[in-house]
Amino acid sequence: MTSATSLFAPVEADLRTLADSLKQLVGNRHPILYAAAEHLFGAGGKRIRPAIVLLISRATMLEQDITPRHRRLAEITEMIHTASLVHDDVVDESEMRRGVPTVHSLFGSRIAVLAGDFLFAQSSWYLANLDNLAVVKLLSEVIMDLATGEIQQGLNSFDATISIEAYLQKSYYKTASLIANSAKAAGLISEVSEETAEHLYAFGRYFGLAYQIVDDILDFTSSSDTLGKPAFSDLKSGNLTAPVLFAMEEKSYLKVLISREFRQEGDFQQAMSLIQDSQGIQRARELATNHVKVAVDHLSVLPPSESRQALIDMSEYVLNRLY
Ligand code: FPP
Ligand code: MG
Ligand code: MG
Repeated sequence: MTSATSLFAPVEADLRTLADSLKQLVGNRHPILYAAAEHLFGAGGKRIRPAIVLLISRATMLEQDITPRHRRLAEITEMIHTASLVHDDVVDESEMRRGVPTVHSLFGSRIAVLAGDFLFAQSSWYLANLDNLAVVKLLSEVIMDLATGEIQQGLNSFDATISIEAYLQKSYYKTASLIANSAKAAGLISEVSEETAEHLYAFGRYFGLAYQIVDDILDFTSSSDTLGKPAFSDLKSGNLTAPVLFAMEEKSYLKVLISREFRQEGDFQQAMSLIQDSQGIQRARELATNHVKVAVDHLSVLPPSESRQALIDMSEYVLNRLY
């Protein structure tokens, strides 16, 4: 199987520059931030968001080289994503991410909250310095969306009545908004037409939703070793994702187990068996596949290029990824 990294070939050199630049930008204020930056922007991250920004930048600039503004946008995107993960690991009390201890477990939750705040603030500052009001509006909405998605997820935990539409809405806020808005922003920096910008947004939206649905499937089908974080953690914490929502339509007893928050002995194991015994995972996979198809359709607005092909290949890879 192709690895995610080889899919990034047209922007591999750009991504290397990006990692060094992020370590510098974030790390030069304070030793703790330096340590956090080494940890956060070193090996291990999949760099999917900046790769998409850079590929769209290259696919829309055609013959011309991408500009420092495109590169800065890619850095901002990764900073926002990383800030949200640092906060997320505090909220979820997660000890491990990408196979290494989280900032929260290394430095404590007070430092982790402040480091996340710093990253959000710094991303806003670099965003403002792009001097492009439309782009500022797109990316600042993303930060609101991230918080909205996280709050919705918290409020809906163990709520066995939530719909697949509500799940997709939350997933948009939590994951797809960043990809959609940064894809559109890359197009705006290249001065594409309004119509092309909307297709880029839609590409990011469907790609992001497919990515999250697959993430939610992997929580059931992958081992903790492969994931670099504990498996089955969504269901345990009451985060009801596509496989569970579909399974509940077939196995109504699942709702009972979930509503009582697996309080009785054996509840969680029984819920897992009911899910495995249903079409839940299969139907979630179909939902992700349909989202990838729509995402790829929106890319036909771009002229053929190596970078456009890499975006198509990445979209298809989303369905095959193992972690
Ligand atoms: C990962 O989800 C979490 C996110 C993609 C978003 C987290 C956003 C916040 C915590 C809000 C940010 C705060 C401000 C101030 C804007 P997950 O926990 O399902 O995935 P994981 O398994 O990778 O941890
Ligand atoms: Mg988490
Ligand atoms: Mg979370």
